[in-house]
Amino acid sequence: MYRFALKVYGCQMNVYDGDKMKTALVSRGWSEVPEEEADVVILNGCSIRDKAEQKVWSDLGRYAPRWGRERKPFVAVTGCIAQNVGRKMASRFPWVRFVSGPRHIGAVPDGLERLMSSSGETFFFLDDDPKAFLDLKIAPMERLNKWKAFVTIAHGCDNFCSYCIVPYVRGRFVSRPPMEILEEMKKLAEEGVMEITLLGQNVDSYGTDFPDGYSFSDLLRDAARETGVRLIRFVTSHPKDFTPDVVETMAAYPDVICPSINLPIQSGSDRMLALMNRKYTLGQYRSIVRGIRERLPGVGLTSDLIVGHPRETPEDFQCSLSALEEFRFDLVHTAAYSPREGTAAAAWEEQVPREIKMARLNEVNRLQSKIALEINSGLVGRTCPVLLDDFAPRGEGLLQGRTPSDKVVLVEAGEEMLGRMVSVLITGAENWCLSGRILGTAE
Ligand code: SAH
Ligand code: SF4
Ligand code: F3S
Repeated sequence: MYRFALKVYGCQMNVYDGDKMKTALVSRGWSEVPEEEADVVILNGCSIRDKAEQKVWSDLGRYAPRWGRERKPFVAVTGCIAQNVGRKMASRFPWVRFVSGPRHIGAVPDGLERLMSSSGETFFFLDDDPKAFLDLKIAPMERLNKWKAFVTIAHGCDNFCSYCIVPYVRGRFVSRPPMEILEEMKKLAEEGVMEITLLGQNVDSYGTDFPDGYSFSDLLRDAARETGVRLIRFVTSHPKDFTPDVVETMAAYPDVICPSINLPIQSGSDRMLALMNRKYTLGQYRSIVRGIRERLPGVGLTSDLIVGHPRETPEDFQCSLSALEEFRFDLVHTAAYSPREGTAAAAWEEQVPREIKMARLNEVNRLQSKIALEINSGLVGRTCPVLLDDFAPRGEGLLQGRTPSDKVVLVEAGEEMLGRMVSVLITGAENWCLSGRILGTAE
């Protein structure tokens, strides 16, 4: 049968889609092999910033020598990047013979089989209708990580933040039916998955397209009660749609629904928030955070922040620094603004020069590292349950997991401890992770 390799770039949604494509191909008898032996290499790519796209462009170039010798491998470009620049990629590189956007994931397995028996055609699964969606109905059984899985609960996004490509590449917002999600979670739990992260660009708008009022907090409750999944996490929350019932449900199932929330702020300036089309003010953001911290003491609160968005003045930027000081997030995904063709802000004349963007990025990162180190140092001496789910990226004999509040913890443990819930005493802290010692099991 055919041999494939899969490379995934970008966010957890792309990981989930990649896992599903892999599962579908393996179930049809395809085998996953190292890239050098593959008939088809699938690049499931991201378009969120220029840097993300450049990674795929530069990887594409590397197939030239083997293509010259063997006319292999065929390269399939999928994911958000395919919808954005897949046609360009196919016209630049003859080995790109398959392009399928994220709204056509259901076309991938058959499409790749047609590609293998074709004679020289290039296959395009793209269309200009942002409502079109062809799902791949299969649970992600073949994953990189045995213990953890992602499950997308809603596709697309209708928010059109000024800087963001996602609504253009992933199309209109559609919630998946609750039964479908809960069944998928059950199936994964039966196969030994211990932790599931529910994914949506804006989980709080889950269900707003249903007629019966079933909401994200209903889904969280049913997932905690009915699926047998040991730990449930979710991303991303949107301040404009966040509702207190989500926090109530988290508080009602504290051992299953992890007390961790990613609530992107994007800017600390009301002027910028309006320009970004975020539809909340700093004051509204502040009252949400207050509500969360009151109801869930010990919650992990993370955020996303963009610096150097067009029209961001030094005063606006100062507001973002003050917001970091005020909210003291556990972690912030910071990024310098990257213009995305076709989005609103990319067309504005008042772009911030690159050097200023980089200087602002350094400054927020420096401040946030200091805050994170202070917060993490305060956790030394505490004990918490941790699912050991992977090898540490560096360091022999170390495994890693996450605290309920979503902080990475490294512990000394052998491979046989993978997949175990243990009780960990936190013994050390850095700005990006904790280290700890296993006290016993916590199953
Ligand atoms: N739906 C989520 C975020 C999805 S994109 C939300 O509403 O927050 C993930 C992050 O990438 C965003 O939070 C934003 O901080 C960043 N991002 C998106 N577009 C960007 C751009 N053009 N330049 C820089 N960062 C960007
Ligand atoms: Fe992008 Fe905004 Fe949608 Fe998030 S909510 S995916 S930032 S458009
Ligand atoms: Fe990238 Fe698409 Fe995710 S653009 S960040 S892979 S939704």
